[in-house]
Amino acid sequence: MDLTYRPRRLRRSPALRSMVQEKSLSPSDFIYPLFVHEGDSVQPIGAMPGASRWHLDALIDEVKRAWGLGIKCVVLFPKVDESLKTEDGAECFNEKGLIPRAIRCLKQELPEMTIMTDVALDPYSCDGHDGIVSSDGIVLNDETIDFLCKQAVVQAQAGADLIGPSDMMDGRVGAIREALDEEGFEHVGIISYTAKYSSAYYGPFREALDSAPRATTTKIIPKDKSTYQMNPANAREAITEAQLDEQEGADILMVKPGLAYLDIIHRLRQESELPIAAYNVSGEYAMVKAAAEKGWIDEREVVLETLLSFKRAGADLILTYHACDAARWLMENKV
Ligand code: PBG
Repeated sequence: MDLTYRPRRLRRSPALRSMVQEKSLSPSDFIYPLFVHEGDSVQPIGAMPGASRWHLDALIDEVKRAWGLGIKCVVLFPKVDESLKTEDGAECFNEKGLIPRAIRCLKQELPEMTIMTDVALDPYSCDGHDGIVSSDGIVLNDETIDFLCKQAVVQAQAGADLIGPSDMMDGRVGAIREALDEEGFEHVGIISYTAKYSSAYYGPFREALDSAPRATTTKIIPKDKSTYQMNPANAREAITEAQLDEQEGADILMVKPGLAYLDIIHRLRQESELPIAAYNVSGEYAMVKAAAEKGWIDEREVVLETLLSFKRAGADLILTYHACDAARWLMENKV
């Protein structure tokens, strides 16, 4: 054939391929989500093989292991005792609560590790919603904000570096920025759950925290989060959300879930100069684990390919339960 262009010329050898590789993965791209509980055991999570609820001492060891693999940031989620859950979720700003204690321990043991937190009521709410639910079943926007601001400040006081407002309701970033600044935490960053979709991919996470929406009283409880999380059909709306978060002072924008929303990552990358994070959520993790357990896919190859796709779409950071495995595989690939 008489061809001028033969793209295969640059695919001939591993050396050539790596020379022209556009994107790559590094352990410092990863944010490692971890579940904490009050007990003294390490409890495996059924739908998330390889992930556990950690007690505080075990959490410290796991975070040290992650640091040793080159991971620079962890995000903490609490499995709150049912007896502490209330309609207003006030346990979220208890300075002696599970999350502030976990942050303090980690900062003492490993001060260099970046600690990210999640700001929302769902792990603390007996209704399983991210905000307070009114007597007629409305998830309240403005009435919830004071609780979230207090939660953010308590987390910052404990030593959190990045605060993650995750309830997908209106005016969160601005109000939390103001509350942090008022208390002298202008150095604490906000990683906003900017485009968080009302997704079935969060199932295993809600099992891990026992935080799915549910009715425990006679109050009507909306069965899903679609009055605040985004409609999976919408892309333009994500840009509006990103613009609002930027105006309100977000430092990093996040898209969640990841794999089914690569187009959203790509669009936000074009719209904003801020760093963008992708959340490779629990359901995405569970699907890979289940198929790998059956021997239907090669877990290592599928995970690294998936994580790379987030970088290609435009993400700078990836929240992933695969973080430690992926960091180890990357290291092995180098030698
Ligand atoms: C709650 C929150 C959720 C996740 C992170 N923060 C669940 C939800 O919105 O119901 C999901 C993460 C995952 O599925 O891995 N504010």
